Amino acid sequence: MVNVFESLIKLENINMYHTFYIKTMGCQMNEYDSDHLAMLLINNGWIPEDNPEKADLILINTCAVRAKPEQKAASFLGRMLAIKRKNPEIILAVSGCMAQNEGVNFIKRFPQLDLVMGPREIGRFLSHLQQIRTQRKRIIATDLQFPPPRPEPCDGFFEGRITGFVSIMEGCNNFCSYCIVPFVRGREISRPPGDIIAEVQNLISDGVKDITLLGQNVMSYSWENRDFASILREVSQTEGLMRVRFTTSHPKDLSDKVIQCFKDIDNLCHHLHLPFQAGSNAVLKKMKRGYTREQYLELITRLREVQPDIALTSDVMVGFPGESEKDFEMTLDMIRQVQFDNLFSFKYSDRKGTIAYKMNEKIEETEKTRRLKVLQDLQKKITLKKNTLLKGVDIEVLVEGQSKKGRQMTGRSCTNKIVNFTDENCKIGDIVKVKIKECFFNSLRA
Ligand code: SAH
Ligand code: SF4
Ligand code: F3S
Repeated sequence: MVNVFESLIKLENINMYHTFYIKTMGCQMNEYDSDHLAMLLINNGWIPEDNPEKADLILINTCAVRAKPEQKAASFLGRMLAIKRKNPEIILAVSGCMAQNEGVNFIKRFPQLDLVMGPREIGRFLSHLQQIRTQRKRIIATDLQFPPPRPEPCDGFFEGRITGFVSIMEGCNNFCSYCIVPFVRGREISRPPGDIIAEVQNLISDGVKDITLLGQNVMSYSWENRDFASILREVSQTEGLMRVRFTTSHPKDLSDKVIQCFKDIDNLCHHLHLPFQAGSNAVLKKMKRGYTREQYLELITRLREVQPDIALTSDVMVGFPGESEKDFEMTLDMIRQVQFDNLFSFKYSDRKGTIAYKMNEKIEETEKTRRLKVLQDLQKKITLKKNTLLKGVDIEVLVEGQSKKGRQMTGRSCTNKIVNFTDENCKIGDIVKVKIKECFFNSLRA
């Protein structure tokens, strides 16, 4: 029987704000949070809209890890403010790590903002919206105490996607001396295994085949008697899960038990992202990373013993305060020794409130730029060399869709390489075996 009361509520929603646009910046954790914010809205009668000019609610999910993403967020916000000036009725909100970091400053700088909401407040998003709508109040929500409750699944939300994310822990306790993340994401909190498995099952029922377990320090997962290796094994056994991955890992947590998983778990992808940040022990110490270059190299050796074809990627920084030319050379040497498949490399960026912010001997911007270029040129050669080794090799690819140039299909190997290929018979979501014909820096062609 139709519930008249419910229909009336829906009708009322349609007459009020009802379309939303979300812009996501930053890391995979933010992509995951944006999906959850979208699900919360959809479950409550809102409709997604691709054009911000037509939306009743504009939400910008921001990142604060370096100055550059902050500048991008501020410039995007500027464009959205122009829309709000034309139509003051819309709700303009910022969420994510920059929102947490800026808090009230955001409202002072941009008084037209309706909501400034940190990452741990997303569970309360709807009640904040309600207050804005009914009381026309401006809200600053930056409580970091509680883990963000995750929304009820939204029917078919992930349909059409082959890859998906599931957060298993939030926050960071490491306080590396340069990093803002512990301040904006709060302390580490692990999620109950039952919630994790239910979310994995929901993604699989929507057609997702390849799931990445997420956390700022994913390997420090801990729940009663379960550690990261045990939750990884449990998740990997979920019916219908073709591939499982995880990110991001801190070297201090990479135990023999986790390394062994790369041998034992059939559907665990042969890829590990293991940030090393710097190659000099003096810099690593000042960064408060808690390992030496020798210990890092030892981990790489052990990983390759257990899984010889494992692909390794990493994060690295140049121009940390006091980084000498010799220290920088040590970073280059580390890159030459490990032969990473790929690297995410950054110029050190001062973050107010961190220990490094107050350090002397800041490196000139032009010097940071020079070092970054030298490092990236070196890595380009290594990536290309490693990709070229795959020429003529048969590789299993999980088909994710059509390639950007059209006509071809695109997918990823279990070592996380993008492979474009022609195959008229394969379907999205299939695993197909292809022979690599051409190798580029960013992709392979089969
Ligand atoms: N939790 C993850 C990293 C999150 S931040 C980890 O520890 O691996 C992603 C990357 O941004 C870091 O690995 C680091 O290389 C870089 N980063 C963090 N703070 C930075 C800063 N102040 N300046 C430049 N790069 C930074
Ligand atoms: Fe930042 Fe270090 Fe935590 Fe990574 S481990 S989020 S770099 S403080
Ligand atoms: Fe950025 Fe926050 Fe992720 S600072 S990198 S969005 S955890």
